[in-house]
Amino acid sequence: MDQNAKKQAVAKAAIQYVENDSIVGVGTGSTVNFFIEELGKIKDKIEGAVSSSEASTKQLKALGIEVFELNEVSNLSVYIDGADEVTEHKHMIKGGGAALTREKIVAGAAKTFVCIVDESKRVPVLGRFPLPVEVIPMARSFVARELVKLGGDPEYRQGVVTDNKNVILDVHNLEILNPRELEQTINNIPGVVTNGIFALRGADIVLSATETGVDTFK
Ligand code: A5P
Repeated sequence: MDQNAKKQAVAKAAIQYVENDSIVGVGTGSTVNFFIEELGKIKDKIEGAVSSSEASTKQLKALGIEVFELNEVSNLSVYIDGADEVTEHKHMIKGGGAALTREKIVAGAAKTFVCIVDESKRVPVLGRFPLPVEVIPMARSFVARELVKLGGDPEYRQGVVTDNKNVILDVHNLEILNPRELEQTINNIPGVVTNGIFALRGADIVLSATETGVDTFK
């Protein structure tokens, strides 16, 4: 089974977590793109979606799914999103697609976070995937120097502006042994909007597609 077939399989499996007549929190990325296609098939059973990026919003609307502003929604039962890395503790690195801030907001607002990945994303320790950090543009060099002090090797993601009009630093060479602590430490640097460690609010359920099926970790 190729990687896209695994992404499709895990996207299909995630549909069981979508409640009838609910508003669904929708993440961003190639795995979520498959999930949005599946959501399109059951669009008459849901009220709509809250989206974590302009890209997902566009795809949702193209399928006729109503997209609500998070401010209009008081009860979000589930948030479904991919990850760049995920551990057995259901901690993740996200933000490869630069949507980490809105993803963290929508994830934080949801009762249940279902992370959908193919098995290549499962890691024992976070950090091989460069950690994305969203930064206010005027703070870019200062934040980069602070990240070096933390042992990382930040690289400016050239040509990328986030949906919030900020920039991304990708931090290489971090071995993230205490993700909750590092998430907090990086977020406390002035000028950082948020970073791509999702550990303080990790996933509640991880669905991981393998050659033989979809494994569930709770
Ligand atoms: C988007 O900013 C990311 O957090 C994605 O969720 C993550 O990069 C996973 O994307 P893929 O499903 O494309 O691997």
